[in-house]
Amino acid sequence: MKILVTGGLGFIGSHTVVELQNEGFDVVVIDNCSNADEKVLDGIKAITGKTPIFEQLDLKEKARVQDFFKRHPDVEGVIHFAASKAVGESVEKPLLYYENNLGTLVYVLKELIKKNRANFIFSSSCTVYGQADSMPITESAPVKPAESPYGNTKQVGEEIIIDTCKVTPNLQSIALRYFNPMGAHPSTEIGELPIGVPQNLVPFITQTGMGIRKELSVFGNDYPTGDGTCVRDYIHVVDLAKAHVVALQRLLNHDNESNYEVFNIGTGKGSSVLEVIQSFERVSGKKLNYRIVGRRPGDVVEAYADTTKANEVLGWKAQSTLDEAMRSAWAWEQKIRSQ
Ligand code: WQD
Repeated sequence: MKILVTGGLGFIGSHTVVELQNEGFDVVVIDNCSNADEKVLDGIKAITGKTPIFEQLDLKEKARVQDFFKRHPDVEGVIHFAASKAVGESVEKPLLYYENNLGTLVYVLKELIKKNRANFIFSSSCTVYGQADSMPITESAPVKPAESPYGNTKQVGEEIIIDTCKVTPNLQSIALRYFNPMGAHPSTEIGELPIGVPQNLVPFITQTGMGIRKELSVFGNDYPTGDGTCVRDYIHVVDLAKAHVVALQRLLNHDNESNYEVFNIGTGKGSSVLEVIQSFERVSGKKLNYRIVGRRPGDVVEAYADTTKANEVLGWKAQSTLDEAMRSAWAWEQKIRSQ
C-alpha cells in the first residue's frame, strides 16, 4: 500500500518514513529540499534497507501537484509535514508562511479528495493552544489567538480541513498536535539537522555540548514555575513518528469515529529548561555552559499534554523518557560532527 509523505526528508517526516516502512508500507516522499537534504534518503535506507520513491517537488506549484497525483493514482493516504516552521521567521515573512503552509495544503487536499476515500494526517502543533488555562492540556482546551503567523498557519490549516470535511465525506482526516519533538533515531542514521543557529532548545544544547556554540542562553528564570524556567513536553521523535503510523492505520481500518479527529501527541510530562539541561549533563557527563538571560517574546510559561485520548482512543503512548530522548540527541550530534 502506497503512502505519500510530504516533507518526508525533514526531521519528523524522515523518522515517520522509517516507521511506515517498518510496518510494510510503500512510501513516496515529496520534498522541495528547502530545509532538508536528499542525503536523508541514504539514512532511511541504512535503517530499513529500502529507499522510498522520492520526487523533489515544490507543492506551491499547483500544476506539479496535480501531475503528481495523476502519476500516482495508487496513493492510499497522505501524511502532510511539508511546511515552514520557524516561529521567528514567520513574524518577519508572514506571506511566505501563508503561501507555503496553507497554499500547499489546499493544493494537496484538492487532489486528494478526488479519490473515493482520502486518508489524510495533518501535522499540527500544541502552538494552537497558546498559553492554555490549565495543565495538562486536553484536546478540548480552547484554541487561542496565534502568537505568530506560523502558529496561525496551524490553526487555519485545521480549519481548512474541518471546513472541507464538512462537505466531503470521502475525506477522512486526523490532526496530530505535537508538543516538543526532540532526539534522533537510535541508529544515528537520521536526526535533526537545523540550518544555521538552532532556534529550538535541544539542538542548541547539544551544539553547545559539542563546543559549536559558546553557551546556551536560558530565556528567563522568573516564570511562575518550579524553578522559574518555562515548562514543555519533550517527546522522542521516534515516539512521535509511530503516532503517525497508528493514526494512519486508524483511518485505513475505518476505525475513526468522525472524519476529523484531533489528538495531542506528547509524553504527558512537563520538563523545565533547567531540567532539560540537567538531563543533558546526566547523559553526556558534561557540564553545560549556560547563562540566564531575559525572556523570549512569545514564549508560553507551560505546555504539556494530557495524552489520555491518544492513549485510550488511538492506542498509542510515548515510550521514551527525557533522558533516553536526550541520549539519542547527543549521540546524533556526536555522529554528525565526527563526519
Ligand atoms: C523550548 C523552551 C524557550 C532556545 C517550538 C515551536 C512550536 C513547536 C515546538 C512545531 C522555551 C527555551 C529555547 C534557547 C531557551 N514546533 N529556550 N534557549 O518554543 O516550545 O516550541 O517547538 O510545531 O511550534 O515554536 O520550543 O525549543 O524553541 O523552546 O531557553 O536557545 O526552551 O524559551 O521555554 P517551543 P523551543
